[in-house]
Amino acid sequence: MTTMSYRIILLPGDGVGREVVREGKKVLDAVSDRYGISFDCASYSCGGQYYLETGREWPDEAFEECRKADAILLGAIGWPGATLPDGNLAGAGVVFGLRFGLDLYANVRPTKLYPGVRHRICNEFTQVWKPESVDFVVVRENTEGCYTPTRGFLRRGGITELAVDSRVITRKGCERVIRFAFNLCMKRRGAPKDGKRRVTCVDKSNVMNGCQLFRQVFNEIASDYPVEKDYSYIDAFTQWIIRNPEFYDVAVTSNMLGDIATDLASVLQGGMGMAASANIGDTHAMFEPVHGSAPKYTGQNKANPIASILSVQMMLSYLAEKKTDSRLKEASEAVENAVGSLLKRGNTLTYDLGGEATCSQVGDAVVESINHIP
Ligand code: IPM
Ligand code: MG
Repeated sequence: MTTMSYRIILLPGDGVGREVVREGKKVLDAVSDRYGISFDCASYSCGGQYYLETGREWPDEAFEECRKADAILLGAIGWPGATLPDGNLAGAGVVFGLRFGLDLYANVRPTKLYPGVRHRICNEFTQVWKPESVDFVVVRENTEGCYTPTRGFLRRGGITELAVDSRVITRKGCERVIRFAFNLCMKRRGAPKDGKRRVTCVDKSNVMNGCQLFRQVFNEIASDYPVEKDYSYIDAFTQWIIRNPEFYDVAVTSNMLGDIATDLASVLQGGMGMAASANIGDTHAMFEPVHGSAPKYTGQNKANPIASILSVQMMLSYLAEKKTDSRLKEASEAVENAVGSLLKRGNTLTYDLGGEATCSQVGDAVVESINHIP
């Protein structure tokens, strides 16, 4: 019998990305032992710090290795002072190189409040929402919109006179991400409020033409699914998710609107340290915690690794489906249960959740819990 092995590329990147990817890898090793799954992992340095050391954003072979892999885990990109000669963030070439280069068009960002987690919307730690009332996913378009590199400066006599960022919205780009959102909705249990499957189209179609196209395509695709259609302008959406999070199941939106809405949404689940994500295309996938490199906390073993660990969980769930391997499904459930029970116990939490545990203690506790699964 040949032993099938899954090829995983780790890109720890900058700052706390390195610390949280280490914990994610620990968890991967734990499920590998527990469920007899073989992961063939390779790690590449990259990002702003790597750029300052080497003059490159990532090693030449890294993209090709990512292209050949079954999945990628990225930590964080961005470091103070690490700027490319054109003024752009050094390391962005890694994130965008993968999102665009591998055509990872659906950026899947779950917002789920686990029992025991207190959030900070009221400044002090409180639990305003019942955990079961926050469980929705934002699907952010990931390859066009304001992120399309159709931008530039007009400089005259050494003075920057004008800057243009063109927002590109295509029918194909809308279709595939909207269909992705409806398919995802069909796999879920519906909104916490009423158990109804619901997809919300989040846009600014009262002003923007691209959003009008997005909404038109949304309506066309929605008719193929037994799912409630819902609409929200982005400005209203940001207040409704705070006031009535239980109404939401899946929301689909364009690139920059999704970027902004998901940072806000993370507060409903305990903050950026809890926000995991998946960048998914038809043939490749990359997983990353949504938080950044947090230079201020770098090297202190303080960062919350749960976003990274839950990104590993999303990776396992993606691979389980893609490879139809039930061991991966069990492993994914085990990681989520281990995180859930750690949060419920509440005695091994990092500072952002009101605890004093270190990043590695949280990783160790998740591993311990996986090892004790009967
Ligand atoms: C995110 C980040 C990135 C983005 C940055 C780091 C380029 O904010 O993943 O949400 O804007 O997409
Ligand atoms: Mg962002």
